[in-house]
Formats: sequence, C-alpha cells, structure tokens
Amino acid sequence: MQAIIQDSYQGIEALKLQQRPLAALNPLAVRVETRYTPVMPYDVLTETGQLKQLRPVKLPLVVGYGFGGIVREVGQLRHTQLLDRPVIGVQPTGSHQEQLLSTLPPLLWPVPANVSLAAATTLIGGGDTAYFALKKSHLHAGDTALITGASGSVGTYLIQLLHLFDIHVIAVGHSTRHDLLRELGAEQVIDYDRPLAEQLTVTGAVDQLIDLAGSPQLLDQLTALLGTVPILSLALTSYASQPAFTFASGTILPKDYRWLLNQLAQGTIRAIIQERLPFTAVKTAQHHLLEQHAAGRILLTYHQED
Ligand SMILES: NC(=O)c1ccc[n+]([C@@H]2O[C@H](COP(=O)([O-])OP(=O)(O)OC[C@H]3O[C@@H](n4cnc5c(N)ncnc54)[C@H](OP(=O)(O)O)[C@@H]3O)[C@@H](O)[C@H]2O)c1
Repeated sequence: MQAIIQDSYQGIEALKLQQRPLAALNPLAVRVETRYTPVMPYDVLTETGQLKQLRPVKLPLVVGYGFGGIVREVGQLRHTQLLDRPVIGVQPTGSHQEQLLSTLPPLLWPVPANVSLAAATTLIGGGDTAYFALKKSHLHAGDTALITGASGSVGTYLIQLLHLFDIHVIAVGHSTRHDLLRELGAEQVIDYDRPLAEQLTVTGAVDQLIDLAGSPQLLDQLTALLGTVPILSLALTSYASQPAFTFASGTILPKDYRWLLNQLAQGTIRAIIQERLPFTAVKTAQHHLLEQHAAGRILLTYHQED
C-alpha cells in the first residue's frame, strides 16, 4: 500500500511516496479502500511547519485529513452493513494513502445512494468548515455577510449555506471566478485585484466579515471602507488592526455531517470540484492549490474512477 509521507518541514518538494504496511484490523476499526482525498491548505501548512503551534506533529507522518472510500472489512464491533458501502471520514493520523484503518466510529459517515463519493469527500475540510463558520458567526436571516476567499473549498460551501439561511452574501474572489460565485448565491461579487472602493457599494450594510483568504492587506483595504465590522477569520490567528476580530478553529458534530450529506442528497447544496489528479501527482496538486485561482476543492484519486 502506497502512502504520501512528510518526513521534514521542507515543503511540497520533499514529499515522498512510500510503501507502507496497513495495521491489522482491530474490533473497532474498518478497512477502507481509498477513492478520493481532498488537497487542503492544512496539508501544505503542515509540510512547511507553519501549523506547529496549532497542530504539533511527530515526523514522519502520512499527509492528509479527509477521505472518501469503500469499506472492505469491518471489525467485530462495527456494523456489518458498512461492508462495501461508500463512506467519507476524517482521519487525524493522515489520509493520503491507498487504504486506511478508520478506528474512530464517530468520524465515519455512509454516503447516501444519490450522492457521488467525490462530491461527498469535499465535505471534509470544506463543507464542514463552512458549516462551523456559519455556526460561529453572529449572522441571522436578513443579515449581510462579506466573505474573502470565497471561491475556495470552504468559501463555495459557505456562500451556499448562507444563501440557504437567507443571509445576503458579498463574495470577494478573482474575476475569473465571479460567474461561479453568483451561481452559488452571491448577490454581489468583488474582484480583489481591482480597487475595492469603486466596487463595494453597500458599505453600511455588512453585518460580519468572514475571512477565508488570510490576507492582512486585503483586510486593511476592506476595513478602511467598512469601518469597524466584526471579523471572523478561519485563516489568520491574529489581526491587530481591528478590535472586533476573532479567529476560530474547530469541528462540527457527527450529526452535522449527516445534515450536510442530506443537503447534497436533496440538491440544496452542491460540491464544487476544481480538479481530480492521481495521488501519485500530489506535488502537482498542491502546486495547483497554491498557484491557481481556486474553484472549490482539488481531489486526489486512488483507483479507476467509479
Ligand atoms: N480554522 C479552521 O478550523 C480551518 C479549517 C479549514 C480551513 N481553514 C482555513 O480556511 C482557509 C480557506 O480554506 P480552503 O480550503 O477554502 O482554501 P482554498 O480552497 O485554498 O481557498 C483559499 C481562498 O483564499 C483566496 N486567497 C488566498 N490568498 C488571498 C489573497 N492574498 N487575496 C485574496 N484572496 C486570497 C484564494 O483566492 P485565489 O484562489 O483566487 O488566489 C481562495 O479563494 C484557509 O486559510 C485554511 O487554512 C481553517
């Protein structure tokens, strides 16, 4: 079984593909044949050591956080109905590997029949974070939110969730992604590459700024126009220029994942997949994450497409 390994803090180019044995099944575990894993900023930040404070790790480690796959074996204490079912899950010990043992039952969710496994996989580290941000925000129906980093994986879900709860959205993203942002429910779109003053026409009406871009310079420009506005950032741990600034990091409940999967099943939200690349091309995938304008999530694939 091949896995993507980080054994230094030298970044993307130092990643290695290694053959690794899979641990033996235990009564609580299920063995999952991996189909997709999401390529996340979290991976790259871990690889460069930038997350050491928030997430201390021991090297070497298997890179990655979430997965979508097919259950191939179940331990004695797990439901046999899981066998051969498509599932998504969180794997805190690393997910970018051809097979994995999922040992924490609350961190595995069966995927409804009418939801593609690739779409469901984008909930991990994308839809879940967007839902977390919505719950952490002070926003209510009728309010207006301004989102930076709106075309990324978290942002594309957050726009849809805010829209679902009747919250108006102003989305900041690259101009090549504006059609997508509008399709997802943004009422106003702003290009971060053009002067903001001529684009931001509803300054008085922003109830909360949700920052997914993590750029202090962009926040400086926005707050110069908006004045004091509560900022909830998932991307910057501190921002000295505003008193009403909060950084948040966290997870949602297992029932929230079931709710998100149901929304995908009902078509009230949809997954935006930027690109799928074989796991052996992980370095290319991570460069695309950093260097291309985001349009949802990049997925690594592990087997022939289903
Ligand atoms: N706190 C938590 O619990 C938690 C959990 C998950 C993720 N996060 C963080 O949340 C953020 C979003 O995650 P994601 O997975 O959605 O990332 P992503 O898919 O890479 O999206 C990042 C977005 O930010 C934009 N951006 C980056 N730098 C920018 C700049 N200088 N000016 C304007 N826009 C900029 C990008 O725009 P372009 O593509 O056009 O450059 C892109 O739309 C990341 O910082 C991630 O680390 C936090």
